[in-house]
Amino acid sequence: MSIRDRYRSTFNDIAKEHGEVDSEAKIDRLDSLKKAIGYTRRFVVDEEQRHYRYDYYRDALSDAITRLDADLAGCQVVHLDIGCGPGLFSWVLHDHLRSRKDRRPESVVYYGYDHCANMIKLANLFWDSLPYRNNFRGDFRLAATAATLKDQDFSDYDVVVTFGYALVQVQNDPTALNHFAMLIQYMFPSSSCIVIAADAHSGLRREAFSSQCRALQAALNEYGVDLEDRRLLPDSRSVMFARLDKE
Ligand SMILES: C[S@@+](CC[C@H](N)C(=O)[O-])C[C@H]1O[C@@H](n2cnc3c(N)ncnc32)[C@H](O)[C@@H]1O
Repeated sequence: MSIRDRYRSTFNDIAKEHGEVDSEAKIDRLDSLKKAIGYTRRFVVDEEQRHYRYDYYRDALSDAITRLDADLAGCQVVHLDIGCGPGLFSWVLHDHLRSRKDRRPESVVYYGYDHCANMIKLANLFWDSLPYRNNFRGDFRLAATAATLKDQDFSDYDVVVTFGYALVQVQNDPTALNHFAMLIQYMFPSSSCIVIAADAHSGLRREAFSSQCRALQAALNEYGVDLEDRRLLPDSRSVMFARLDKE
């Protein structure tokens, strides 16, 4: 079974078990697990929602990793997904790494942060169905996430930080952007770090997406993190961004 089919069937099992009901749920009002499931169904399962399809994200993310020459050759890889929602990007990265013979996904640690507690619950339910379930650590609490990351020594790790739609979602919220930058700074003792913003809708809102990428860079500068800006793939499911390699 392909990982996409597996993702969908896992999702369908979870939905069945929890009696998914609210397929109209809005992202800012996911005050129950059922609503988080209803919201997620639209982009994981529904074929009509073509922008959100898992395979688009998978291709965009894999392409960015390849084009940024991120060989992720270190012994250990760490992923931080900001605005992780149901953990889709970690699955995508997992899928990418699994397709490479020289990588063992079980050596990867995935951190997911999302301020919505029900999204984190859902992400944990997904990961519980995988043999590598212990590799995913999701949290909806900013302070706890910051404390966890701050406590780690990432100096021997290759780090991948990803954003999905969350980057654009916080357009009118400089505090949130500042929180994101704060989390990212903790990853930077790593041996290499790439920050990727992948947005299946970016072609439809190029200006908003670009300006958020610039704002993120400025916020990171405040934390002493200087990211090279390499915009990639200015197409309809665009990927941006940047990489840093330690000398
Ligand atoms: C559309 S979902 C995308 C999930 C997944 N990363 C993707 O791109 O498929 C956007 C996620 O960003 C989260 N988000 C929005 N603003 C946030 C903030 N200020 N802090 C943390 N998460 C946020 C939302 O709760 C939501 O789960």
